[in-house]
Amino acid sequence: MIQAKEGRISTVAVSTALGTSGRGIFPYTLLPGYRRLLRAVRETGAAVFAKSATRSKRKGNFIAWNPLTWKYIRRLPGGGMLNAYGLTNPGAEACAREIKAAVEQGFKVIPNLYPEFVKGTELATLDIVEAVEIYRQTLGTDFWALELNYSCPNSQEAIRENVAQGLKCSQAVRAKYPALFLIAKISICHPYEFAQELAKLGINALHAVNTIPYEIIYPQGPSPLWRVGGGGVSGGPALAAALSYNTKLRKKVGLPLIMGCGVKNREDVQRYLDVGADAVSFCTLALRNPGEAAETVGIFNS
Ligand SMILES: Cc1cc2nc3c(=O)[nH]c(=O)nc-3n(C[C@H](O)[C@H](O)[C@H](O)COP(=O)(O)O)c2cc1C
Repeated sequence: MIQAKEGRISTVAVSTALGTSGRGIFPYTLLPGYRRLLRAVRETGAAVFAKSATRSKRKGNFIAWNPLTWKYIRRLPGGGMLNAYGLTNPGAEACAREIKAAVEQGFKVIPNLYPEFVKGTELATLDIVEAVEIYRQTLGTDFWALELNYSCPNSQEAIRENVAQGLKCSQAVRAKYPALFLIAKISICHPYEFAQELAKLGINALHAVNTIPYEIIYPQGPSPLWRVGGGGVSGGPALAAALSYNTKLRKKVGLPLIMGCGVKNREDVQRYLDVGADAVSFCTLALRNPGEAAETVGIFNS
């Protein structure tokens, strides 16, 4: 668990799998196991990282109402998923209103923002500051923490090259909002120096790691989603690589770490705790095996 002045992040947190609102995604909400998960999340006060918002509405690859785009999210053997979702979202105003409704129902939602560095660092950072203002006005004191997504493998921006942009953006947000608990979500492609620099800038916690580019997990390739950049692998097939990155990361930085990627069950949560995680997140588990997800939340958070 991570205890801060204004709030806390539970030992097990749900990342993204409850949507941009943080209170569940249709049609998963029709599944009994997923509904049990929603209940466990509320009853235990589990932290929920919302799916990424951008300052303005963004049309990515996957669009829920368009069956032609469903191919951008696929199942992989071993409890895995491959996705090239591409950050479809209704923009910060709409996401803030959705999160407010979730918070009023008892969900402990931490918003997640994606800076669109392809616009240039300054404009992308300005977008983030505007979005923070929107969250502050909409959520009031319930807005105590923010996750910055520097690690989406499905966007046009190159993760390996966005280190300088991520640092500038973090510095600007840190300076403008000294009391906000800032979490940077990083990628397995990021050098450990990125994490160390973020720590020096006063970022409060790191969330490592996001989905892993297809070619890292399956070097024999090519990805079935090669047309849209290859996509990111999550769930079971990603565990070994993510656990190895996080084990080394723990030795490189002292700040609180939310570790995740690849969690298939309660034993995998324990694996991350054993290598020094302060909190552990999962996403794919909630979509592939929501019953186990619900039990895992109950075991570690009560
Ligand atoms: C379909 C899907 C959509 C995702 N969308 C986002 C997103 O918008 N923002 C983000 O930071 N991470 C996103 N993620 C990454 C997850 O939050 C998580 O970090 C990643 O899947 C690794 O964890 P897991 O193996 O438990 O799924 C997404 C993952 C999946 C499978």
